Amino acid sequence: MKGTFPVSRFQALETPFYYYDTQLLRHTLTCVRTECAKYSKYAVHYAVKANANPKLLAIIRESGLGADCVSGGEIRAAIQAGMPPQGIVFAGVGKADWEINLGLSHHIFCFNVESVPELEIIDELAGKQNTIAQVALRINPDVGAHTHANITTGLKENKFGINLNDLDMVLDKTSALKHVRLVGLHFHIGSQILDMNDFVSLCNRINEIQEHLYNRRIIVDHINVGGGLGVDYQHPNRQSVPDFASYFATFHKHLRLRPKQFVHFEPGRSIVAQCGSLISRVLYVKQGANKQFAILDAGMTDLIRPALYQAYHKIENLTSEESMEKYDVVGPICESSDVFGKAVDLNKARRGDLIAIRSAGAYGEIMASGYNCRPLPKGYTSEDFL
Ligand code: LLP
Repeated sequence: MKGTFPVSRFQALETPFYYYDTQLLRHTLTCVRTECAKYSKYAVHYAVKANANPKLLAIIRESGLGADCVSGGEIRAAIQAGMPPQGIVFAGVGKADWEINLGLSHHIFCFNVESVPELEIIDELAGKQNTIAQVALRINPDVGAHTHANITTGLKENKFGINLNDLDMVLDKTSALKHVRLVGLHFHIGSQILDMNDFVSLCNRINEIQEHLYNRRIIVDHINVGGGLGVDYQHPNRQSVPDFASYFATFHKHLRLRPKQFVHFEPGRSIVAQCGSLISRVLYVKQGANKQFAILDAGMTDLIRPALYQAYHKIENLTSEESMEKYDVVGPICESSDVFGKAVDLNKARRGDLIAIRSAGAYGEIMASGYNCRPLPKGYTSEDFL
């Protein structure tokens, strides 16, 4: 089954471009809100890194979500979209001084701190601004996730977070500093996680850590479990909204909280992936030695996920209903990895046919580059065609 697109409206547009179905985005946000509201003290911060298109951010802001940012640019994008600074968390292993200052001057909710040197700089800069920064320690839980190696973050060997063995030392350090206040713990084990057992392992590890803190008479108010819920790239129509019910229920069941503790989530992909498609045209159909290529005007500069992570995206020919043929669907970039899919079944393709690359709303447009001096793809929403 193909997705539903305003194909006739696409004809007049230059390709490639991103197309976002805002009805699906709004529905997804309603599902997140409804499922999250079943538990008191659960808060959701949208991971801006997944997609910072201002039209999408505006819709996400309307739904009342906070923002998870990893750069000064993302903090600016969130604030420009009208997201309240009190709902902004700021993570990242390499926060520059100007980015920390930006967060401090906006009095964002929390800095997720990843190392002692960073903690010291936040303390120093907060002192200069005569303020106190709320911090959460991002702990590397050494919990694996069944996902691609490049998007696993919670293992010892990854650069993220504070090593568990250093936790006591960092806690001592934090309490000795005058311009930081420890308010939480932060975790994130990876992305595109579909096996709820990975989140159960995270909960178990958090419970152990909380126990350890409790023995030191430390109780933090906020436990941030990061993002990571995956989407169904194989069947974007069948499962257009991820299973938020099971997701939140997993944490509810397995996370042991102290009274008054809040739980924070940072979903990115699960909010925006399915509402977005990369729309492009077939430039040429080329016969190779033993296969045929559909050469698109979109390339890895527009959507890098297949080249970078060997990611699967469903590809559909929106123009043709002719019988299926197999194609290697490739872009025009001078790189052998500029391939969207090999041996893809597509309705017979001809020059000019419109092609949709599905589930591209997350880590698509935002990761686009200008390599080969190509212009960045535009982004349209379904509301642009009303
Ligand atoms: N929180 C933190 C600390 C993160 O590092 C990430 C993603 C998220 C939240 C949001 O994770 P999500 O809910 O989207 O899985 N470019 C890759 C994904 C990189 C994810 C990086 N961190 C991709 O296209 O698959």
